Amino acid sequence: MKRVITYGTYDLLHYGHINLLRRARELGDYLIVVLSTDEFNWNMKGKKCYFSYEKRKQMLEAIRYVDLVVPEENWEQKNTDVVKYQADVFVMGDDWKGKFDFLKDKCEVVYLPRTPEISTTEIKASLGGLK
Ligand code: CTP
Repeated sequence: MKRVITYGTYDLLHYGHINLLRRARELGDYLIVVLSTDEFNWNMKGKKCYFSYEKRKQMLEAIRYVDLVVPEENWEQKNTDVVKYQADVFVMGDDWKGKFDFLKDKCEVVYLPRTPEISTTEIKASLGGLK
């Protein structure tokens, strides 16, 4: 079985996320999503999530392309995760291009093109003006 691993926050789930998850899953037979916790987002990325970790996890688990959701609690765990979850392929959107090439001695590293013109940041910004 070919196992694929990917990382992210997946707050205010949108079609850019779904496109990424579908293409990631097509690279193998089993997709693991390592989902940033609320604490990691706030302390390390300076991001405040709209939906809690549990809610974001629940939504990801309802997606047919996703097989397992586990927490991301620090930047360093990628090295140990790929071994622990026996990942054959590590996938990220190409906004991260080149950033995780250090994993190439452990697994294949793939950067998928982002879906244009949609992001959680953009949704948050545009909703600011709506009733
Ligand atoms: N992603 C994508 N296309 C988009 C938005 C996100 O392919 N339009 C991918 C990212 O590259 C990442 C995954 O979806 O691999 C999760 O991204 P995340 O950062 O949680 O979502 P964003 O919408 O980019 O959120 P933010 O604006 O907070 O960075």
